[in-house]
Amino acid sequence: MTESTDTLTTTTVTAATDAEMRALGRRIAAEVRPGDLLILSGPLGAGKTTLTQGLGEGLNVRGPVTSPTFVISRVHPSLGGGPALVHVDAYRLGGAAELDDLDLDAGLDDSVTIVEWGEGVAEELSETRLEITIDRLPDDTRTVRLTGVGPRWSDAVPNAQ
Ligand SMILES: Nc1ncnc2c1ncn2[C@@H]1O[C@H](COP(=O)(O)OP(=O)(O)O)[C@@H](O)[C@H]1O
Ligand SMILES: [Mg+2]
Repeated sequence: MTESTDTLTTTTVTAATDAEMRALGRRIAAEVRPGDLLILSGPLGAGKTTLTQGLGEGLNVRGPVTSPTFVISRVHPSLGGGPALVHVDAYRLGGAAELDDLDLDAGLDDSVTIVEWGEGVAEELSETRLEITIDRLPDDTRTVRLTGVGPRWSDAVPNAQ
């Protein structure tokens, strides 16, 4: 079977509470492997960092995973034998050129990299990536859309139910 690089697979789930959002992050952690790039979109307060905290728990990396105020990129080493988590907050980045300056490429193959506010700037890091978009509803529940872009995710988008 041939796979094309523009394969898209999407799944949508609801996270009713922040605990559910963390649990979703842990379930995604069970599906990712070194070299994976995850791009998180959604407005301030959507739950991007909350999901990343669950991802960090699931990957068993050193915490805490926080919303960085000044730090743009933080490496959370594994507490076991697994990949590190590289957590990037691109909110203050001027664009793709500044993302380049972070030299993320260097660690990309060995780590799981997740970029908050990455939409429009982080796609260039990898042609295959998991794009996660969070919508906040008036009742405070969140709708999370997971879209796998490229061959890596053609059949593998986490079944987050
Ligand atoms: N269903 C939910 N999913 C995720 N976070 C929620 C939910 N309901 C309430 N929250 C709260 O919303 C806030 C989300 O903050 P955060 O994860 O830092 O967002 P972001 O990183 O997208 O700016 C947290 O205070 C969290 O407790
Ligand atoms: Mg955040």
